[in-house]
Amino acid sequence: MGFERTFSIIKPDATRRNLTGKINAKFEEAGLRIVAQKRIHMTKEQAGKFYEVHSERPFYDELCDFMSSEPVIVQVLEGESAISKNREVMGATNPADAAPGTIRADFAESMGENSVHGSDAPETAAIEIAYFFSGIELVG
Ligand code: CDP
Ligand code: MG
Repeated sequence: MGFERTFSIIKPDATRRNLTGKINAKFEEAGLRIVAQKRIHMTKEQAGKFYEVHSERPFYDELCDFMSSEPVIVQVLEGESAISKNREVMGATNPADAAPGTIRADFAESMGENSVHGSDAPETAAIEIAYFFSGIELVG
């Protein structure tokens, strides 16, 4: 709780449909500040390391293929309770279960191609931020 930073990815299904600005507007309207952001194209190996926690799950290979299929936007969001606030703005993993007005309700195409990633806890947020951003890229 308190003032936090969280890690976010705008996934390939959303960058492909030119939704970066619309998704960023949802973050900003919720009071989250985008303090770092860049567009990258991950290799499958880089995506695999990022999602290593899911490596035993049946969807892992497909997820890594998808996340390395096209460019993504990686970003750091900052604000009061940023981790849980971002999860609220994202909506449920399955867009069919996502609350109206959330990013996944409005934009996600399926359970796998669900437009955004967001860290789920302070420990994972710190690890995920450090995976993609160096200290000098985080100006606050
Ligand atoms: O992204 P989130 O934290 O909401 O969900 P997760 O359980 O951490 O799963 C990570 C990602 O794997 C999801 O966002 C989906 O893209 C994908 N996934 C999937 O394709 N099929 C599932 N049954 C569960 C997750
Ligand atoms: Mg997750």
